[in-house]
Amino acid sequence: MITLNLKKTIDPKVLLRHPWMTKTLFDKPSESVNPGEVIEVRDANNQFVSRGYANTLSFFYYRAVTFDSREKLEDKASFLNERLYELFIQRLSLGYKKSFRLCFSENDFLPGLIIDRFLFEKNNKFYQVFVVQITTAGINSYIADPLKAFKNLVERLIQEKLVQISWEQTILVLRNDIKIREKEGLPFGPAQVLNNIDNIDLSLVPVSIDHWFLKSEMKIQSDLMGGQKTGFFLDQNYNLLRVAEVFTEYVKFFKPQKVRIMDICCHLGQWTVYLGLVLKELGVDAEFVLVDISKEALANAKATMDGYGITAECRQIDVMDDAFTIAEKDFDLIIVDPPAFAKSKEHVPAAKSAYQKLNLKAYKGIKKYGFVVSCSCSGAITLEDLKDTVNRAQIKAFRSSKIVAQGGHAPDHPHLFGFPEGFYLKMMMAQVTT
Ligand SMILES: C[S@@+](CC[C@H](N)C(=O)[O-])C[C@H]1O[C@@H](n2cnc3c(N)ncnc32)[C@H](O)[C@@H]1O
Repeated sequence: MITLNLKKTIDPKVLLRHPWMTKTLFDKPSESVNPGEVIEVRDANNQFVSRGYANTLSFFYYRAVTFDSREKLEDKASFLNERLYELFIQRLSLGYKKSFRLCFSENDFLPGLIIDRFLFEKNNKFYQVFVVQITTAGINSYIADPLKAFKNLVERLIQEKLVQISWEQTILVLRNDIKIREKEGLPFGPAQVLNNIDNIDLSLVPVSIDHWFLKSEMKIQSDLMGGQKTGFFLDQNYNLLRVAEVFTEYVKFFKPQKVRIMDICCHLGQWTVYLGLVLKELGVDAEFVLVDISKEALANAKATMDGYGITAECRQIDVMDDAFTIAEKDFDLIIVDPPAFAKSKEHVPAAKSAYQKLNLKAYKGIKKYGFVVSCSCSGAITLEDLKDTVNRAQIKAFRSSKIVAQGGHAPDHPHLFGFPEGFYLKMMMAQVTT
């Protein structure tokens, strides 16, 4: 194990469990460290701070895996087995049973590792798929044998009667098709399926979204091999509920014959499906317009909507293009959920003007008393940045609105007190009053 001491002159905030450290924070950073080699960080007084790994190729030279001095990292396979098991227990204890994020990188003390667990039914058989994304060389060394690690996890959960899905129903997908791997010296390539039982075509599976807080189960046609990120955005699941609850009251009060909803940057259309099911239960007619740049996402969204009998017009368009406009005061609810415009701090000004441009279009198109839901999934954009941006958009649109609900990522995407970058998704729902 290599021990590295921090400089005396560092910002004391660094000691408050922030998982990333640049090389400049260390007194004598080692240049010959192997990715994955255990590093212990101590402060200038030689007190334990954390243990983790370093990579000289990476902008964040060091990433913490544990802040607990009792936790040893030398036996990486056993450490990973234990951590994955604990994460599964944590998600079960939050009420998740079907599809959920099992591991959220730094926020689950496994920096560089994303694991989404998707459950679906095909030919009267249930399957679970673990979609794994490894973004750092350090964490790659912990997961040297993915099949063994997941078999261990699944068999332990079965043995303890915590789940019923066996290893014979489990598929593993490695999504190494993410460019940032190259920065870490890791190979970049197409998604790989390990353990593909029954030769299931994973490019179109009806992923089951059935969280305890959602009133209806949703089955969303998803591409787990080539779809964006891990195939489906699980992070919005709690926001769907909050928005639908507020919108339900609006519908109950105004009793409209029909409501019009626009789902901007809809991806697979989960907002539409959830709201569609809620409105159906209320007996309210709804017309949805779904907009996205991705032809593939829209085709899958259309398949899902058709399956549910939801009236939806799907438009493939670049929403940043001037050709994309919304008719004035035409919609009861507009959801604006664009991609992360700011990948890092230097992109914040350009990202803010992009969010403003898009929200301006939405504000023009909303009816009086209707709602605009503005989301940002950029870690570098703060909630205050988003509020400032949407405020400018409403002023430019000559509209007035008030925030009536606010949200972040769902409970299966926890975030740490000392890691503000981990809180990336912000959602604001505002009611337009004039
Ligand atoms: C954060 S995801 C949206 C997630 C989705 N609303 C959900 O809840 O699952 C961003 C979406 O924006 C789409 N997108 C990216 N750039 C776009 C553009 N210029 N115009 C329209 N859609 C775009 C992507 O294809 C992706 O589906």
